[in-house]
Amino acid sequence: MLPPRKRIVTIDGPSGGGKSTVSRALAAKLHFTYLDTGAMYRAVAHQCRKQGMTAEESPRLAELLASLQMELLPPLPGGDDVRVVVNGVEIGPELRTPEMGMLASQFSALPMVRATLTRLQQEIGEGGRIVAEGRDTGTVVFPDAAWKFFLDASAEIRAQRRAAQLRRKGESVDEQALLAQIIKRDKDDRERSLAPLRAAADAIVLDSTETPADAVVERMHAHILATSCCREE
Ligand code: DC
Repeated sequence: MLPPRKRIVTIDGPSGGGKSTVSRALAAKLHFTYLDTGAMYRAVAHQCRKQGMTAEESPRLAELLASLQMELLPPLPGGDDVRVVVNGVEIGPELRTPEMGMLASQFSALPMVRATLTRLQQEIGEGGRIVAEGRDTGTVVFPDAAWKFFLDASAEIRAQRRAAQLRRKGESVDEQALLAQIIKRDKDDRERSLAPLRAAADAIVLDSTETPADAVVERMHAHILATSCCREE
């Protein structure tokens, strides 16, 4: 018999693998709260850039993190993205640009940043009933989560999907540049020494290259229903 685990679902994986779509849909199906940990790293990167900081540990960064007040709000009606309010001010659409993703990846390698955000995420998840998506939610943030998934897909399909997503928002996209960015960001996220992107030993690895998001959600949901009797705390 497995030891009881927290009623938390973790979905980790590289950028653009469909994690956000799948996590949001799964959270809605389960009536759990969706926790977008990437948005939190993006928000920190945004604040640091606003203050002219580069991705290095410094007393100024420590100060910024110590006074950080972060609130996650559900998407606006018709919208997709979780909104982030930092120190009382909502960050606009610049939070979701590929450039902010790259910057978030750089700041996310800093121990001070990871310690602060991991603690915040654990506080949010304390009561369970969340679907958390990110890079290390199954390995570091919620190692005792009841259900862990790792969602992968080829870099090419991930670039295509991200390009389509940006075009839907009315942005012009250079798909080759996007592919190069995705490959670089994943390499950096996988190779960093602290909380690198990888599947937890007890995660179910799924590949969404050829599988539509709704089928991935169905698989996850079926697995959760089939195992919830012996996994839930
Ligand atoms: O999921 P995303 O693209 O919004 O994430 C932006 C960056 O934040 C990602 O490249 C690495 C970092 N990140 C992280 O290090 N750990 C997480 N749990 C989530 C994101």
